[in-house]
Amino acid sequence: MDRAAQTMMIRARPGGLGAKITGLDLSAPLAPATLAEVKAAFLRHAVLWFPDQPLTHEALQAFTLQWGQFGRDPYIRPLDSHPHIVEVRRDAGETASVFGGAWHSDWSFEAEPPALTILHAKIIPPQGGDTLFADGRAAWRALSPAFQEMLAPLRARHSATRPYGARGFYAQEKGRTGMTIAPSAEADEVMVHPLVRRHPETGDPALFVNPVYTIGVEGFSADESAALLGFLFAHMTAERFVYRHRWAPNMLTLWDNRCCLHNATGGYDGYERVLHRTTVAGTAPAALKERALN
Ligand code: SIN
Repeated sequence: MDRAAQTMMIRARPGGLGAKITGLDLSAPLAPATLAEVKAAFLRHAVLWFPDQPLTHEALQAFTLQWGQFGRDPYIRPLDSHPHIVEVRRDAGETASVFGGAWHSDWSFEAEPPALTILHAKIIPPQGGDTLFADGRAAWRALSPAFQEMLAPLRARHSATRPYGARGFYAQEKGRTGMTIAPSAEADEVMVHPLVRRHPETGDPALFVNPVYTIGVEGFSADESAALLGFLFAHMTAERFVYRHRWAPNMLTLWDNRCCLHNATGGYDGYERVLHRTTVAGTAPAALKERALN
């Protein structure tokens, strides 16, 4: 069927996190009214996927720019030909860990972390390789008012040191062949963000901490931070807040880093997996409650 003749269908998952959109051709610019509808669905569902979208690098870049300016992607080498596209590749014979294989929000250690990430699937293994998404808004809403009151003014410390530091995980890991990761001493820098983030477009609160980049809570001892963050990480990634996303070649998926976490799963050793990734620049996370100045 001629794609232009199809009408857009948005099928949301029960529970609100994630929606599938069909009936669009993403290789051409979306009409303003269609783009507005897609953006409204994105703000509501935080993860959108569009099956069956063969896209060139140029079309992926053009689609990305309909959402905002390109984000900055530190520590991973992009395609030489397209500096805003990272190839997320794991070769069939690769023994290194799965890239992105722990719960995180992309580059949350940046002063202005990317608002959203776009991933376009090229080669998908016959088994494994799903991506998990966790809804930080639903996790926030599920907390008691007394606990919310305690968390709302807190600020958390984020850093890339554990994965990307000069002595971090990737600096020590062997066997990576599909991607080039460049650990650096810069990764030891620390950025403080509100622990509960107000979404800049919807105003909705969401928990904004993750086990890869959040290293402590401002003003808390190491033990206190570990206890609170341990609770929050387990709570945020509890099954009732998680959606398991199954990929297919040519599927384009985007997610909102401001209110959800993601985690790439393995289970496909012996098979190749290749996707192309862009990010869209974001803003400095805003607190739910501004702190009193005195
Ligand atoms: C990522 O964290 O950007 C990678 C996600 C994936 O490969 O599924």
